[in-house]
Amino acid sequence: MNQAVVIEDKDIAGKATSPVVPVFPPLQPNRTLDRCYNIADLREAAQKRLPRCVFEFFDRGSEDEVALRGNREAFQKIKLRNKVMVDVSKRDASISLFGKPMAFPLAVAPTGVAGVCWYNGEVELARAAARAGIPFTLATPSVQSIEQIAAVEGGRKWFQLYMWRERDLSHALVKRAWDAGFEVLLLTADTAVAPVREYNRRNGFSMPFVPNFTALADMAAHPTWLASVMGRYWMNGGLPKLAHYPKEGGHGVAQPQPKQPRSVVPNLRGDNLTWDDIKRLRDIWKGPILLKGVHLAEDAERAIAEGCEGVIISNHGGRNLDTAVSSLDVLPDIKSAIGGKGTIIVDSGVRRGGDIVKALALGADAVLSGRPGLYGTSVAGEAGAYKAFQFLKNEFETVMGFTGCQKVSDISDKTIWMGK
Ligand SMILES: Cc1cc2nc3c(=O)[nH]c(=O)nc-3n(C[C@H](O)[C@H](O)[C@H](O)COP(=O)(O)O)c2cc1C
Repeated sequence: MNQAVVIEDKDIAGKATSPVVPVFPPLQPNRTLDRCYNIADLREAAQKRLPRCVFEFFDRGSEDEVALRGNREAFQKIKLRNKVMVDVSKRDASISLFGKPMAFPLAVAPTGVAGVCWYNGEVELARAAARAGIPFTLATPSVQSIEQIAAVEGGRKWFQLYMWRERDLSHALVKRAWDAGFEVLLLTADTAVAPVREYNRRNGFSMPFVPNFTALADMAAHPTWLASVMGRYWMNGGLPKLAHYPKEGGHGVAQPQPKQPRSVVPNLRGDNLTWDDIKRLRDIWKGPILLKGVHLAEDAERAIAEGCEGVIISNHGGRNLDTAVSSLDVLPDIKSAIGGKGTIIVDSGVRRGGDIVKALALGADAVLSGRPGLYGTSVAGEAGAYKAFQFLKNEFETVMGFTGCQKVSDISDKTIWMGK
């Protein structure tokens, strides 16, 4: 059991960095992790360990993956500027969000089915986030339950909601998360319809898993993953299932139709989400609500007017609407519309600490990160995810140093260069 006591953190170089992180027992050494020096290395190691069907589900985008590539291009085309002659020997990467501290301006994005990349993967990710001093967001389609995550010691826990057509079921889930002590609610609004991800069909991957030759052969070719993930689930009660979804066949869950694209999660999502839903959620959820998947300034303004504390600008990591704009492209507009009135969080494509600096320089309060933590978890559970977060934090602090920022609020539009 983790032990949250003292208030100091050591980064990988051994330097005391943040006053907000409890000290946890040491992590198990891992030789694969020792050979990883950045998120790209973790991705490569994850690719080797996972069956192709699982890796592609985590890693890829939708349709032609234009949005997926665009996310990286958007970060890479923004340049950084040195600021010289500033004493940056005592940089402080911590911020306060919703009245509570975080070690640096990054929270773990909700990623459904993370429990398939490692045994109890969501718990491992939540532990890594607590260890790193950043919030963890549990997705509605998770393998581990709200209560299992609530039991993880320390850390901040946020909950993501996919609103189902059966509103009563969703409201009960939201109440359950609130009662369990979750702090922030992310209402995902960018998934009204099922995205087109052909590789899942080609690979025979679906959740719940329907056994088929292609996927089983793929899994059999990855015996370490098969034994350590599926084997352990099997020994402890059966194959992984979605913890919060009603049993198939009940409550209007659509059965997969043979000729239709098979969804990775049961088709229980509401395609009829509207602003009225926020009002009802406001009655149940007393903490901050963030609307996730916003691209239009008018939607951001409306979200604040309807009682949300902020928005998450996101294209779902390039996994939903292909050729969607990148979050950075629309961030300045949304900043002009709701800056000072609501929190702005950005995600999709963050792979380096410098990307966080760029998002903040353009007006974001913080970023979410999805795949980096999944790559890390796939390689070594909590230790791998923690390493991913430490890479991002160290790189963030490095860029703060080059750009003359002693504290996060020093990051400004002068920190970046957008070209003439
Ligand atoms: C495997 C995977 C599963 C995801 N599942 C969810 C989900 O259940 N709910 C949600 O709102 N977003 C989900 N997302 C989107 C993330 O919350 C986030 O927007 C995205 O991963 C950010 O892009 P990045 O992976 O480049 O950091 C998922 C992303 C991935 C990669």
